[in-house]
Amino acid sequence: MVKIAPSILSADFKRLEADVSDMIQAGADYLHIDIMDGTFVPNISFGPMVIEALRPTTDLTFDVHMMVQDPERYVDEVAKAGADIISVQVEATKHIHRVIQQIHANDVKAGVVINPGTPVSALEAVLADVELVLVMTVNPGFGGQSFIESTLEKIRQLRQLREEHGYQYEIQVDGGINDKTADRVKEAGADVLVSGSYLFASADRAQAIAEMKA
Ligand code: DX5
Ligand code: ZN
Repeated sequence: MVKIAPSILSADFKRLEADVSDMIQAGADYLHIDIMDGTFVPNISFGPMVIEALRPTTDLTFDVHMMVQDPERYVDEVAKAGADIISVQVEATKHIHRVIQQIHANDVKAGVVINPGTPVSALEAVLADVELVLVMTVNPGFGGQSFIESTLEKIRQLRQLREEHGYQYEIQVDGGINDKTADRVKEAGADVLVSGSYLFASADRAQAIAEMKA
């Protein structure tokens, strides 16, 4: 069964703890936490202080997606704040292998992320070293955008490479995931579905999560 990772980018920040705990009650498997720096992406969200504030409220896996230029500058701080998984964009660093080593040195699982315009081949050299690969299904920076069809083929490629080589990573998708697109990405081979605006706007979140998993 697939895992569901609600993205707190769409949460109500003035009552963040209550909104997050409601989503956990509804059946979330991971909490997806988007850090945006205003440079790698044209938006600013929040930083490690928010992770640190939420950490004592739950044991759920904190899945941190860093949309940050030169993420090596902040990986240690994000790990200390309480991340369980840290994913970095391959486009944002000259030293993707070194950043993966740095994440692991913090005893945190490492993920790598590709934008819609970046091919799977950009990751091939590190696929054996990561616990998660995130295929962006929108251009990162904002919630509420439409799913980009051409990303489906990359999910299939990652599935096939994992089978061929015996790699261990989970395949995650992020952007424009709702009741309809969920079926398509599952069919292509995704293991973890990130969803922000759709899940947080659902009147019955438990039902929305259950339907996505089904
Ligand atoms: C976008 C973020 C996503 C975002 C997804 O840059 O990485 O995690 O919250 O939002 P939706 O599900 O609304 O597309
Ligand atoms: Zn994200």
